[in-house]
Formats: sequence, C-alpha cells, structure tokens
Amino acid sequence: MKLTKPLFILVTVLAISSCTKIYKKPETAVTIKEAYKENFYIGTALSQSQIEEKDPMVTALISKEFNSITPENIMKSMFTHPEQDRFDFKLSDKYVAFGEKHNMFIHGHTLIWHSQLAPWMAQIKDSTAMADMMTNHITTIVSKYKGRINSWDVVNEALNEDGTLRKSVFLNSYGKDFLTLAFKLAAKADPKTDLYYNDYNLCNAKKRKGAVDMIKNLQKNGAKIDGVGEQGHWNLTSPSLDEIEQTILDFSALGIKVAFTELDITVLPSPWDVVGADVNQKSEANEKMNPYPKVLPDSVQQQLAARYEAIFKLFLKHQDKISRVTLWGVNDGQSWLNDWPIRGRTNYPLLFDREFKPKEAYTSVLKLKEAKK
Ligand code: XIL
Repeated sequence: MKLTKPLFILVTVLAISSCTKIYKKPETAVTIKEAYKENFYIGTALSQSQIEEKDPMVTALISKEFNSITPENIMKSMFTHPEQDRFDFKLSDKYVAFGEKHNMFIHGHTLIWHSQLAPWMAQIKDSTAMADMMTNHITTIVSKYKGRINSWDVVNEALNEDGTLRKSVFLNSYGKDFLTLAFKLAAKADPKTDLYYNDYNLCNAKKRKGAVDMIKNLQKNGAKIDGVGEQGHWNLTSPSLDEIEQTILDFSALGIKVAFTELDITVLPSPWDVVGADVNQKSEANEKMNPYPKVLPDSVQQQLAARYEAIFKLFLKHQDKISRVTLWGVNDGQSWLNDWPIRGRTNYPLLFDREFKPKEAYTSVLKLKEAKK
C-alpha cells in the first residue's frame, strides 16, 4: 500500500514521538560498562538483596552494565564489627564473592566513618583505646580481603564544610593524626590495594582546600594515599561544571587518582531552600517537596539527561585522571534519595527507572561515546 503524503507525515511523527517517550534499548547496543571500558570503571552500589542475588533479572543487569561494585551499607562498622570482640563477615564474604564471580573491580566502603558506626566504637574516650580499635579493625578487615578488594575508602567524611576536621569520636579521642594512622594501617595490611579518602561537597572551595591540605599532610607523614573519592550527590544545576572540573584538577595535581564514588542527581527540591516557618505551609510544603509522586515529567527527564550528559562529557575530558565513576544504586527505586533528607518521597536520580529500564539519562551517557567513534 502506498501512503498518501499527509498519512506518511502522521505515521512518521507518531513513530518519532513514541521513540522519544519510551526508550527501549536495542538488543545489539553496547552496555554502559562496555562503552566506557577504555576510559574508567562504571560502578554501582549494591544493597544486601542485590548482593544475595535475590532477583536474577537484577543480577543480570548489574553484571551486564557495571564492572565495579561498592557495598551500599553492609561493610560499614556497625555491620562488620558490631561488638569489640566480634566481627561479622557473612555479608561481606558474599559481596566479595559476587564481585569475583562477575569479574568486577571490587571497592571496600568504608573503614573509618562516624556514621553507621558500631555503637561500642562511639564510646571510646582515650587515644590508646582508639589506636587499639583502629589497629584491630583496619588490620583484620583489610588483611582478610587482601588481594581481593581492589580499593578501600579508608576514611570517609572527616571534614566540615569550612575545611576543618569534623569533631568525630576519632578526632576527639586520638587527635588529627588518626588519619595518618588509618592510612598506614591499611597500607600495611594490603600494600597493593588502592587507598582513598572519600567525602561529599568537595566542590565547596573551603572544604576542597581542607581536603587538599589534609592529603598533603598525609603524604608529608609518609602515609600511602592513592586517590580521593568525590561522592557526587548533586542536583540538576549545582555544583557547576566549572566547580567539578576544579576539583578534578586540584586533586590530580597532588599526584593521586580521582574517583566519583556515589553519583546521583536529585530532581527534588531541597528542604534547605525552604524559608520561613509558617505552620500553614506544612501540607502545601509536603506536596511541594514531593512534586512527582507518580511520574517524572518529560521536561525534567530531559533536564536530567542533559545534566548527566554534561557531567560525563567532563569526565571524559579528564579520563586520564579519573579511575572510576560509581552510581549510588542500580535503579531509582533503590535510591537512598527517596528517603533522604525527607522520608517517603519519589526521586529519580539514577540511570535506570523503577522497572529497571534505561532512562533518557542512560541513553545520553551512552550516546556520548557513540558520537566519539
Ligand atoms: C547511605 C545509604 O545509601 C543508605 O542506605 C543508608 O541508610 C545511609 O547511608 N555518604 C556515604 C554513603 O558515604 O555510605 C551513604 O550511604 C550516603 C552518603
């Protein structure tokens, strides 16, 4: 049958608009880890059920799309070292086995962190007890996975926003050299694994300066530090690409690798932007704070895709300095940003949607590489 001209136009328009609405990945297309394999690792953070391979479809997606993993929660001290004389490696053993089975770069997160801290560690008051704890904790865990965990977040989030050291139990009991001690202990336990300092908001100039000074101090003290992890919990407009680029330049100038370790882009309003405390604002504020409970409007979907594209373009520009880019979760349904900083919202910060389908953001990140060929 021959199509008349108006009918032909109508059919074409319908075909194009349906393509832009529902993205279905062609069977033959390369996956994101394949597309970026010569640039840097593409990682994801695994929940407990993903580590335990509860859903074969999800396992297949993880192993197809990603070549690096981070445990989202199960290797934090409250889980690995719940009591002074008891370690629990049940889940971390499964995590490492998952990475080996799927031939992945395996990252350890995290050894020394004030959050999700084993309660008994929070009680430590003096420097000898802190040194004992750190020696036992770091040596036991890092040696256990020696040669199997490829890099570690040795210390997580030690800095305040103004670049000074956070008043954590580690600083309070041991003093500022707890950082040097932690890195030296980790290097001794596994001299070949890469050691990272990991933090958020490193685009903030003061905090970044604090991190640079801290890393220089570690180097001066003879501690081995291989890289800095920038978490990358960002939004649609902030930080700017210039700020992100500055962090890459400043950290790589120290002779260390830069990794983006917990990337996600929130599309929801931040509670910290809400001014005033009008009680009548409350119910209205709830809807305002959770504007897309059912579906993300196309316009925002496209903004998200453009933001991811711009960020990955910048990463590619500096691929020689970047070791790994890890998304903080596999799909939108799993993201911690559905419950933080406000519980029970519907956020859309990752590359796969709630049905595990690739989003426009995924396509734009992938296309960036296809365009380069
Ligand atoms: C988050 C997890 O994603 C949540 O499931 C958990 O409830 C809290 O911690 N910085 C980090 C990560 O280094 O470990 C945090 O992960 C997010 C912020």
